[in-house]
Amino acid sequence: MSQIAVLHGPNLNLLGTRQPEIYGYMTLEKINQALLDAAGDAHEMRSFQSNHEGALIDFIHEARSWANGILINPGAFTHYSYALRDAITTVQLPTVEVHLSNIHAREAFRHTSVIAPVAVGQIAGFGWRSYLLGLQALLDFLEDVGNGGRTT
Ligand code: DQA
Repeated sequence: MSQIAVLHGPNLNLLGTRQPEIYGYMTLEKINQALLDAAGDAHEMRSFQSNHEGALIDFIHEARSWANGILINPGAFTHYSYALRDAITTVQLPTVEVHLSNIHAREAFRHTSVIAPVAVGQIAGFGWRSYLLGLQALLDFLEDVGNGGRTT
């Protein structure tokens, strides 16, 4: 059983209507439900969305007391929030970064992630399914860690 903190950054509350040609038509509520369905009874998951950097940081700090992994779409904070990056470094919880769009194929400012260097890995470009792929990657990673790092 893993406990996963799911974080959604700014503007992601508007998914479904926000530039659907880029971000798709799935609402955040539906994405959270899809993650809960994927986690099933085997894992605990708590989701949080905020448009405020400090609120996301507070949630990360609190996750230290109950979670053993973080799944995060930091939104635009991806590209410049050293505070969010420091929070992840501080709590030392394995973190997987996800993006709906392929940030590397978009405007130059989106090509940099200040979060990626402190994450286990990054999944980008698969629409809402990036979250599902990210969750699976995080659960597999945690299982490997629980098995002493063995991957088979
Ligand atoms: C995003 C990509 C970011 O560049 C953007 O600011 C977002 C969404 C994505 O999921 O594709 O808000 O994180």
